[in-house]
Amino acid sequence: MGGVRAYHERVVDHYNNPRNVGSFDKNDPDVGTGLVGAPACGDVMKLQIKVDSETGKIVDSCFKTFGCGSAIASSSVATEWIKGKPMEEVVSIKNSDIAKHLSLPPVKLHCSMLAEDAIKAAVKDYEAKRAKNTDVKQEEK
Ligand code: FES
Ligand code: FES
Repeated sequence: MGGVRAYHERVVDHYNNPRNVGSFDKNDPDVGTGLVGAPACGDVMKLQIKVDSETGKIVDSCFKTFGCGSAIASSSVATEWIKGKPMEEVVSIKNSDIAKHLSLPPVKLHCSMLAEDAIKAAVKDYEAKRAKNTDVKQEEK
């Protein structure tokens, strides 16, 4: 009887109706792109943020995930959580928060880890881009 562990309804919901699937132009100076992979299973997640350069707030976010249901659900939750928040706040989102929200079983924890990594990578990419643009502007002076 019953060998398969049922997924939490939130996973199923985010899997069936993922929020914010899509792509932004990664060359847009207001966009940060995080592309991360899980060595454990080979799944890949791309998460992007659009930032208001005045306030440092994330005004929009989207993702594309090639991976399991838990990874898709984790990225979907991540995009919802980070929208409207300042960048310095979202880098402290923990995979354990996402895993708890989705009630992920231990074997699926690395799926939520992907989302945490992707958020951090997107912020880092945005900041690196901005630093580069500032350099260029200063050189032009
Ligand atoms: Fe890759 Fe989950 S193991 S889809
Ligand atoms: Fe690998 Fe979910 S991301 S099984």
